[in-house]
Amino acid sequence: MSRPTLRTKFCDTMGIEYPIVSAGMGPSLIGEATGATVDLVVAVSDAGGLGVLGAAGYTVDQMQEAIREVKKQTDKPFGVDVLLPAAQVEGGDVRPEDIQDIPVQDVLKAALPETHYKWFLSIKEEHKLPDLDIEIKGGSTTSRPHASIKVILEEKVPLFCAGLGNPGFMIEDAHANGVKVLGLVGNTKNARRVAESGADFVVAQGHEAGGHTGRIGTMALLPQALDACGRTPLLAAGGIGDGRAVAACLAMGCAGVWVGTRFLATKESGLVDEQGRFIVNATDEDTRRSKLYTGKTSRTVYSSVHDLWDKSGLEMLPFPQQSLLASAVIGSFHKAKKFDYVGPFSGQISGLIDEIKPAAKVVEQMVNEAVDILCHRLPDTVVAKA
Ligand SMILES: Cc1cc2nc3c(=O)[nH]c(=O)nc-3n(C[C@H](O)[C@H](O)[C@H](O)COP(=O)(O)O)c2cc1C
Repeated sequence: MSRPTLRTKFCDTMGIEYPIVSAGMGPSLIGEATGATVDLVVAVSDAGGLGVLGAAGYTVDQMQEAIREVKKQTDKPFGVDVLLPAAQVEGGDVRPEDIQDIPVQDVLKAALPETHYKWFLSIKEEHKLPDLDIEIKGGSTTSRPHASIKVILEEKVPLFCAGLGNPGFMIEDAHANGVKVLGLVGNTKNARRVAESGADFVVAQGHEAGGHTGRIGTMALLPQALDACGRTPLLAAGGIGDGRAVAACLAMGCAGVWVGTRFLATKESGLVDEQGRFIVNATDEDTRRSKLYTGKTSRTVYSSVHDLWDKSGLEMLPFPQQSLLASAVIGSFHKAKKFDYVGPFSGQISGLIDEIKPAAKVVEQMVNEAVDILCHRLPDTVVAKA
């Protein structure tokens, strides 16, 4: 049987078959290699979509190794996602000689306010949690954005994705190296800013998304962001879990979709079984947007750690101090295998997900359903005449 056709300008520009992108999802808060792994990128790109490696949280060397591994396993186009915090971009990379991997256990006392440190110790004692052995990577791509960009351009990665910050300053260099540039935004103002800076594509991500997320719902954000982006193609993100959402986004004028949670719940994402179960069992009401995990608002599946935090009565710490505290608490529960306290980053679409399946199947089903809607269901159910 021939493959269905579902193509937009985004596909033509990127040389891919379907306008479905698996989002750049970095490793988990406690450093597990989950999210947009090499395996996920290869599976999605081989299935006709475009896989994006989640390199936030990798060291620059780990990112380069992963890029080379993707290239070894597929000759299809793919992307790499890093974060470009403005302060780090302007202030410059952490110098190689200053890079240190710091054991979380050793810095907590010095880095946290006494009240928060004591809270961590009380949780540890009450729940009989073991000592931690996770490390903060001193040389992550986020702390070395310029070195990361250099590697991505040298490796001629087809699509550079900025998950945070405006990539405008590197677009000329990227284009000189044949690399396209995409920027992820959560509101109309930033959509306009990134489009005006010359990015090839903008992703507008709605409030319902997993991971760091803004205040505007996808349905309200998309038309406003589309207007703001003008001729720059816009991809939709936040709450996209099947072909119905794909068809709706294309109907609205988007050039494609950027999908996180649905691809997190696949066999290739490296998600540990217990975390997969969290997503599969979740209803649409079971995620929470909170600053608990990082100090910036992010959406995760609700877990008992939220209750512990609410009861603590403590002030939220700023980013990245809060991530240190959350990594320590969640990492300790994880090490103790008390998984009820370890909910993954995940979006409201979790309620629709009832199975961990191969990523290629997700692409295939999204395409088949969207094509069926656009070719058959819509003309059958909607009477429209111009
Ligand atoms: C587990 C997880 C990790 C994420 N990590 C990143 C990241 O490192 N960089 C980034 O740009 N976006 C990250 N995101 C957000 C996604 O790129 C994407 O915008 C979002 O998942 C889309 O919404 P959805 O989850 O409803 O599909 C993450 C999302 C999830 C679920």
